[in-house]
Amino acid sequence: MLNGRRILLIIGGGIAAYKSLQLIRELQKKGAEVLPVMTKSAAEFVTPLSVSALSKNKVFSDLFDLNDEAEMGHIELSRSSDLIIVAPATANLMAKMAFGLATDLPSTLLLATDTPVLIAPAMNVRMWEHPATQNNCKTLINNGVHFSGPDEGDMACGEFGFGRMSEPEIIVKAASDILFNGPLKGKHIVITSGPTHEPIDPVRYIANRSSGHQGCEIANALTSLGAKVTFITGPSNYKFPESCEIVTVETAIEMLDAVEANMPCDIAIFSAAVSDWRVEKKNTNKIKKNQSKDVLKINFIENPDILKTISKMKMNRPKLVIGFAAETNNLIENATEKRIRKGCDWILLNDVSPGTGIMGGNENHITLISADEIQEWPRMSKTAVAKKLGQKIVDYSK
Ligand SMILES: Cc1cc2nc3c(=O)[nH]c(=O)nc-3n(C[C@H](O)[C@H](O)[C@H](O)COP(=O)(O)O)c2cc1C
Repeated sequence: MLNGRRILLIIGGGIAAYKSLQLIRELQKKGAEVLPVMTKSAAEFVTPLSVSALSKNKVFSDLFDLNDEAEMGHIELSRSSDLIIVAPATANLMAKMAFGLATDLPSTLLLATDTPVLIAPAMNVRMWEHPATQNNCKTLINNGVHFSGPDEGDMACGEFGFGRMSEPEIIVKAASDILFNGPLKGKHIVITSGPTHEPIDPVRYIANRSSGHQGCEIANALTSLGAKVTFITGPSNYKFPESCEIVTVETAIEMLDAVEANMPCDIAIFSAAVSDWRVEKKNTNKIKKNQSKDVLKINFIENPDILKTISKMKMNRPKLVIGFAAETNNLIENATEKRIRKGCDWILLNDVSPGTGIMGGNENHITLISADEIQEWPRMSKTAVAKKLGQKIVDYSK
């Protein structure tokens, strides 16, 4: 249910912190990866060793840890997950969130994040009912923070009332409701990704340097927003996105067949680096070194143009067709011309000149070109590009 989802779990310093250990297990049972963050006070209630051993991940707790900053900076950590859960959310953490305080790692992450936040408050009934906490709750609800609980019942302090932390199973249910109830719920999105391989003979092929990284990040970002994604990928060693239907293909022709088999869909995103040509006659046997006396000649013929074929569909064309333009010169001019020639709605232009390190790298520098605008995005990680594109699609779909 939460396969491939990454959850940043912030554990606050309350008596219910022991339940966060069970929460880690429940999240993992559903297939999620848990990145734990603990407040200083939380470490008084459960040991970072237990949390790390159960989550199988390092526990982050110090804002000024140079090693952590080198590994994954605090801003990156705040954006690295599909959802942040705060459990238990102490009165103190809720107050910090409501007032936008960033005095330690957990509160800084909560202020810097752009991912949804789910909190499971847990505190003494008087603390919960205090007007200060209730006002903070209102602020947090207004700010779009999701709540699970608190429940009513007997408390560790001997009192009875509201303030018990939700049971871990209930928090997991709330988490999956948030993750799968996103603004793209009900939308079917087809994404192509990776390179294609065009065979020359049974052992050789024409390929390109595409890693499939960007397509994979886009698929993850869009499923996080609730979309149903069909991910059609050429041969790639990059980890497949989770929670998608995966279709593996090798050649451009197979990729087109797979795309057409998945029509109609609402949105199509063509991030694959499809070979423009294929070998006219694939040799059935391996070409021998001495087969030709002179230079070996291979005839190429043009492959079908997947982006153009789908963009120009007469019936059931996806409402939004997005292509990629990997260019090395006259970037804007070439990409603008490509968008018009292919008939797609948006082109995401990226400069793949060798010096940029974009093809096969972790970052991308995108310019979005549509009929109405040319919007240059700053250079950012491929994960951030995917999220930005996801938000753009959400705005478009409203
Ligand atoms: C034994 C004990 C239990 C506590 N339980 C809670 C609790 O359940 N909820 C809460 O909001 N604060 C509780 N506190 C108070 C918090 O630990 C305190 O406000 C702390 O500053 C919270 O830090 P944090 O929000 O950074 O984790 C408790 C304190 C003690 C000593």
